[in-house]
Amino acid sequence: MASIAIEHLTKRFASGTVALDDVNLEIDDGEFVAVVGPSGCGKSTMLRILAGLDVATEGRITIAGAAARADELPSATVFQEASLFPWMRVGENVAFAFDSLPVPRDEVRRRVRDVLGLVGLAENERTWPHQLSGGMKQRVAVARAFVTDPPVLFMDEPFGALDEQTRVGLANELMRLWERSPKTIVFVTHGIEEAVTLADRVVVLSARPGRVKEIIPIGFPRPRDAVTIRGAREFGEHVVHIWELLR
Ligand SMILES: Nc1ncnc2c1ncn2[C@@H]1O[C@H](COP(=O)(O)OP(=O)(O)O)[C@@H](O)[C@H]1O
Ligand SMILES: [Mg+2]
Repeated sequence: MASIAIEHLTKRFASGTVALDDVNLEIDDGEFVAVVGPSGCGKSTMLRILAGLDVATEGRITIAGAAARADELPSATVFQEASLFPWMRVGENVAFAFDSLPVPRDEVRRRVRDVLGLVGLAENERTWPHQLSGGMKQRVAVARAFVTDPPVLFMDEPFGALDEQTRVGLANELMRLWERSPKTIVFVTHGIEEAVTLADRVVVLSARPGRVKEIIPIGFPRPRDAVTIRGAREFGEHVVHIWELLR
């Protein structure tokens, strides 16, 4: 599958802004890593570079083991805005993930149905995006990311625009999907509780330029439940500790 090595990653934009300064991080195969940090510290920039949507100024990124086969994508990315095609129904939006892959139509249909069932949208295959709530749109975006089963998933505040209850529900769904189709996930969030709920490790970045300030292992057993985990004493301790690091 895929492990990720980030070595001496520095990003300086043409404007002169240094977004990231010598970021070093090793992510294990199948690990769920959450990245938190003050607004503007380079979280999105780091994720965009990891996803191949931007380039580093210095340093390097190695993603080992991704995309061995022609019918697989090396990674998928989910952003805060679901960015669905408004002219395609839900099922077509999810199936679009296979656009460049040589996967037979029947297989695509089967996998789209399967993943829509897993995110609670079994009845919405023929629904138009404008008919969906914000939470449902993000479910479609998550389904589109999982449907091809890539070894790596990058998520940039995917639930950031949603209300708290919807976020907690989606956190549980994401964990169930990830347990069923293991993959390496890098999840950027401004939600400290969300990070502690989901991740194997939480990476705390400093204010811009972003550097790794601390890496906090989160040892809660899995499967986890996003509601009951909040009652654990260590949960509150992790949350307070991360808050202290961020101020
Ligand atoms: N394309 C760009 N050109 C110039 N500056 C940018 C660009 N993208 C982001 N930045 C700047 O880089 C810094 C980090 O941005 P970003 O990675 O979006 O932060 P975060 O996601 O942590 O809030 C910010 O100061 C932002 O204004
Ligand atoms: Mg951002």
